Amino acid sequence: MESLTQFESRKKDHMRLALESQVQAGSHGLDQIELIHEALPEINFKDVDISASFHIKTKKIKLSSPIFISSMTAGHEEGENFNQALATLSSNRQILMGVGSQRRQLGDSEARKEWQALRKKAPQALLVGNLGLAQLIQTPIDLVQELVDSLQAVGMFIHLNPLQEVLQPEGTPNFAGGLQKIEELCRKLSVPVIIKEVGCGFSELTLKRLESAGVYAVDLSGYGGTHWGRIEGLRAPENSVQAQAAQTFSNWGTSTVQSMLNADRAHVKYQVWASGGVRNGLEAAKLLSMGADLIGLANPWLKAYKRDEKNPGLELKKLADQLDYELKIALFCTGCKSIEEIQRKKVWKWHQDINPRI
Ligand code: FNR
Repeated sequence: MESLTQFESRKKDHMRLALESQVQAGSHGLDQIELIHEALPEINFKDVDISASFHIKTKKIKLSSPIFISSMTAGHEEGENFNQALATLSSNRQILMGVGSQRRQLGDSEARKEWQALRKKAPQALLVGNLGLAQLIQTPIDLVQELVDSLQAVGMFIHLNPLQEVLQPEGTPNFAGGLQKIEELCRKLSVPVIIKEVGCGFSELTLKRLESAGVYAVDLSGYGGTHWGRIEGLRAPENSVQAQAAQTFSNWGTSTVQSMLNADRAHVKYQVWASGGVRNGLEAAKLLSMGADLIGLANPWLKAYKRDEKNPGLELKKLADQLDYELKIALFCTGCKSIEEIQRKKVWKWHQDINPRI
């Protein structure tokens, strides 16, 4: 079993390497999508409403924006400060925030103290718990419920990361029995379950298979942003088989746009959340127009935090303001007054080069 020191150093490696430009994958496909400009929107910009919602059974939680903070870290000192800054933002703005994998808490009850400190600072934060499927498979559901309770979470992310687990020197690439365990979790957990990838996306068939499990949402986390095969490749010993394989698989994954099209074809009834390389409000708007319900970003929050680690609140708020403003512009300029409207109207098309005669 992994020691605490090994665990902490892995988590620190992840935060450091996630900022390297070479771990950002190729195209997410959003450059191929164009929103159709509406020159006569018949809307007052101040009336554009980007609020969204999240449901725990019949209880509706209002979100100020469909943009959420994707799961990143937990269980180490540097991560505590980062999570507190993010949770403060979530609390102030009422946006969803995923915490990173709570795996450490399964074997170390002291780890829950991180959440007590965080809750003191950010009592209203809308936190979503997180655990990998490889860990879920080995864990009784009542222990997962404890992870939810200790965080006072409104939902639980289960991440599917086969490429990362198989390339990670200390990984657990065992997903056997995964779908059945997800089904059991959805039946027994007190909060909604959201299945996510970590940057390799989803096929149509997998999205269909998840329908019967009773998930609340799938966060596509497609190829085109932070690539965990590349990160684990950098962590693996030089010239090792893992390091070489990570290069071979450095472009592995289904792009965010392709995953979105797969979700559309799968006709799933659960919510579809989109992420993977989203870097501005216009890209978020494109995914909403293709039918996504909420949009996640990870890397941009980490970057904003690192710009001023001593006082990260301002940088995080600036990023949230920027994303919301750009999203509102996209709605205004497509003639949509709300998120529901941009999802319903067909305001996107495949990008075509501008006619040179004009
Ligand atoms: C992540 N991600 C992640 N996902 C997850 O489900 N559990 C986790 O513990 C982590 N850890 C983590 C650490 C760091 C530093 C980053 C940047 C990301 C993956 C994340 O939630 C997201 O799916 C991908 O990073 C793709 O989004 P971006 O970064 O391209 O916006």
